[in-house]
Amino acid sequence: MNYRTLGRTGWNISTVSFGAWAIGGSWGAVDEAEAMAALNRALDVGINFFDTADVYGDGRSERLIGELRRSRKEPFYVATKAGLRLDPQTVDGFTRENLSAFVDRSLQNLGVDAIDLLQLHSPPTDVYYRPEVFGALEDLVRAGKVRFCGVSVNRVEEGLKAIEYPIIQSVQIVYNIFRQRPAELFLPEAKRRGVGVLARLPLSSGMLTGKLHKDTRFADNDHRTYNRKGEAFDRGETFSGVDYDVALEAVQQLAPLVPAPATMAQWALRWILMNEAITCVIPGGRRPAQIEENVGAAELAPLAPEVMAAVREIYDVRIKPLVHARW
Ligand SMILES: NC(=O)c1ccc[n+]([C@@H]2O[C@H](COP(=O)([O-])OP(=O)(O)OC[C@H]3O[C@@H](n4cnc5c(N)ncnc54)[C@H](OP(=O)(O)O)[C@@H]3O)[C@@H](O)[C@H]2O)c1
Repeated sequence: MNYRTLGRTGWNISTVSFGAWAIGGSWGAVDEAEAMAALNRALDVGINFFDTADVYGDGRSERLIGELRRSRKEPFYVATKAGLRLDPQTVDGFTRENLSAFVDRSLQNLGVDAIDLLQLHSPPTDVYYRPEVFGALEDLVRAGKVRFCGVSVNRVEEGLKAIEYPIIQSVQIVYNIFRQRPAELFLPEAKRRGVGVLARLPLSSGMLTGKLHKDTRFADNDHRTYNRKGEAFDRGETFSGVDYDVALEAVQQLAPLVPAPATMAQWALRWILMNEAITCVIPGGRRPAQIEENVGAAELAPLAPEVMAAVREIYDVRIKPLVHARW
């Protein structure tokens, strides 16, 4: 495993970390025993950073990580999120009182006295123009309930605005082979300001593993069934907002670029880590075997310039027109 420093926190976190959405819910049935096995395996292989949220399985993901904390001695960092429990999620809902109540609930779920990293969870764009929201985050740090703060953004412009606030140590954003716009302006700017970046959907919801097919079926309660067109939440959170069949064709074109014995998942994660502004990738995992495979990405050799160019060409021709101007 390799480690990179997260923003100005002084933490060294694993370049391949753990995305804990799927062990909460929204990806079909959750097998808690298997989820615990995946979390334990992650610690075994050197992962020391877990990304969760208070809404994942309505707190189940946080509670499972709390169980990990109680049962293992190794130190690790947990980033959680607040703001999606607001229903509806309005700008005016991001008050000091609401955020404080969400944090109290997460502290209980995680079984800790302080949250390592608290991220605003995909708030509406106008939240970034409300300095008082960031003041409320400062108060939570002063109160000792939160150590560091970050944001999880949907759009590049939100990330650019968020990093103007000194309290923000990290930005979580969709960045993968099918979502390349962050590399143009946002990633260099985050690096310049010493802000860490967590790449979410690094496998584009599993599409960049190469295992999906035209006839793949997902459970009814898997967002890959019910949110393909953004019916339940931002369309960009499911397959990065790329039409399923278009993505499958692009994956077929990418496949010959993957060097044996690497798997496409490992290679797709390594592509992200080629950018030095990225602190870590947080692939979603719920089975120990997936965790083992994904950590292999940290050890892969860098991608050659001509391979990087070929990936860019596939993106430019097939994917860019669908996503580039939108997120
Ligand atoms: N708004 C937000 O803040 C937000 C939104 C989305 C995600 N996130 C965070 O980002 C993390 C990652 O994003 P994501 O989970 O949506 O997408 P992802 O990491 O691109 O895809 C995860 C899915 O890919 C499959 N997978 C993972 N490793 C695999 C492997 N080695 N081989 C085959 N399949 C594999 C698994 O699904 P199956 O096994 O079911 O196929 C897994 O659930 C989340 O867990 C969450 O922590 C945050």
